Formats: sequence, structure tokens, C-alpha cells
Amino acid sequence: MQEKLESIYQKALADLEAIHTSEEVKAWDSRYLGRKGEMTLILRQTGKLPPEERADFGKRANEVKNLLATALEKREALIREHELARSLEEGELDVTLPGRPLTMGGLHPSTRMLRRIKEIWADMGFQVYRSRDVEHDEYNFTLLNMPPHHPARDMQDTFYTTQPNIILRTHTSPGQIRAMHDYSEDGTRPIRVILPGMCYRYEQITARSEIQFHQVEGLAVGKGIRMSDLKGTVAEFARRLYGPDTEVRYRASYFPFTEPSMEVDVKCHICGGQGCPVCKRTGWIEIMGSGMVHPEVLRNGGYDPTEWSGFAFGMGPERIIMNKNRIEDIRYFWANDLRFLEQY
Ligand code: PHE
Repeated sequence: MQEKLESIYQKALADLEAIHTSEEVKAWDSRYLGRKGEMTLILRQTGKLPPEERADFGKRANEVKNLLATALEKREALIREHELARSLEEGELDVTLPGRPLTMGGLHPSTRMLRRIKEIWADMGFQVYRSRDVEHDEYNFTLLNMPPHHPARDMQDTFYTTQPNIILRTHTSPGQIRAMHDYSEDGTRPIRVILPGMCYRYEQITARSEIQFHQVEGLAVGKGIRMSDLKGTVAEFARRLYGPDTEVRYRASYFPFTEPSMEVDVKCHICGGQGCPVCKRTGWIEIMGSGMVHPEVLRNGGYDPTEWSGFAFGMGPERIIMNKNRIEDIRYFWANDLRFLEQY
């Protein structure tokens, strides 16, 4: 019996050493220490021993039982520790991994240029006036000195709606009249606004022309505003947009709603005026149309043109972006092609 006890003890310790999982721990526990375990069984046989051996045997057997229980606890703790480490290693969530990069959206190049243009004009004292995209024929043409059948109406092919005389604005200039009506207090107060927005023209879509594009219109009305104010103002704008050394030139032009009218060019910043494909070998890039507000237009806006005068201009942000970035096809702007958009 004594020997058997010691051999169970040794066997149990050896088995415990070879154990690596919680399941194996459970099995070992019931095999040696459980209700039908070897230790329980051998203890139950104490009574079969001669009386003088019983006390010693019982004492030793209980000692072994306790030693095994302690060894089991130790082993269990070790295994639990390993299993935790392994589950952290293999687990689905590893908080130490670097995050997945998010693809960031960006602002459309037109939006960015519009913001830049607005910012420059705001710094120069111009407020933003938002005018409508869907216009009355009257505002888009007639009040801008283009009465019905005026040949200048053909300069801008028009989208008509099913409503008589309701059209999509072909330029932002009708906003001039609306701003004068809204702000001038019956022609008694000066105005200094820019009018950004989308314009629409019924045209063949090509690399050079789109049916929709932005314009930023400008309007200043006051007493004693002269052509030199217009020239100085647009030159300052050009220097703020293209850099302080930008050279500017003016070319006589024609618009029905301004008189005199002029086109504003900047020295080509790509070839420095030598001539290149971007400036079509002229050395200059057109950035806006402009002029002194026509007396008829001032009158239509509620001002007395013998006392009041003003200047106006209109520029195309997409054209400016195209020239700056050598984009050769205006159709990229509304094609929603990420290969284009991601470059800005
Ligand atoms: N509205 C003109 C255009 O669409 C531009 C312009 C605006 C010209 C204001 C003179 C004054 O081309």
C-alpha cells in the first residue's frame, strides 16, 4: 500500500508535467483527485491495513493529496497564462496593428478656385451676392441692353424652359441688375459685390466649350468711378492671383452692357510671354471681360447715370484653372473621373 501510494504520487507528478491544456488539467484532476480518482480510492482502503499502520499511512496519503492539489494549482495557473498569451496572439483584435488608411475626399478644383477668387475679392472689399441660376429673359438680356432681336443675344446660345421667357442664365451678368435692385435703395447707395455662380449655354460640348461652367461677376457702382479704377482694381486682382510681378494688359472689346469694354490679359506665366501652346503663341492669357457699366444698364438698375457710374467684370474659374494647370479639355471638370479629381 505504502509503495503503491508513492508510485501514484510519482506518476501523478510526471503526468502533470506533460499537461498543456485546461482540458487535460480537468482529466488529470478527475483521474487522481476526483471522486473516483486514484487518491480517493487508495485512501478509502486505509481500513484494510493492520491497525498499527493506519495512522502513518493516512497521514502520508493526506499529505500526498495536498501536495498534488498544490501542484495542480500551480500547473493550472501556468497553463492559463499561456493560453491567454496565445489567444491574444491569435485573437481577431490586435490593438497594436496600424490602422487602415482612410481615403480622404477632396474639394473639387472649381470649388477651390472659387474660394480663392472670393477670398481675394473679399480682401479688396467686395461682398458676395448670390443670384439665381434660372432667370427671366428680361434680366439675362433685355435689362442688360440686349432688347429682343438684338444680335448680341446670339453671342450666347440659350437653354429655354417650357415656361415662356424663363431660361437658364447664360452668364452671371443678370445678377448685376438684381444686386442693384436689392441693394441700391432706389439708386441712392453705392454697391461693391461679386456674383459667383454656374452659367449654362446650349452648345456643342467640346474640349473648349461646355454647356455649364462657373463665372464670377463683379460690380462696383458709385459716384465718380472711372475707367482707371477698373484697370487698377483688375490689375491688383491679377497680381494677387498670379503673383506680385504679374504683367497685365487691356484690349478694347465689346459687350452690350458695358461701354467702353475691355478684355484683361495676363502675361503667360508658363512661357513668360515667349509664346507656347497654353497662350496659343500670343504670350498672353485672357482672364476676364470687363467695362464701365453702360448708362442704360445703370438706369435699369435704378440709378441716374448722370450722377452714378460703375464698372463690371466677369471671369471664368475653369478657364483660369485650365491655364494654370495646362488642362487641355474642359470636359474633365464635370466628368467625375477620379483620375482627374484626385490630382487636386
Ligand atoms: N458676361 C460676360 C460674358 O459672359 C462677361 C462680362 C461681365 C463682360 C461683365 C463685361 C462685364 O462673357
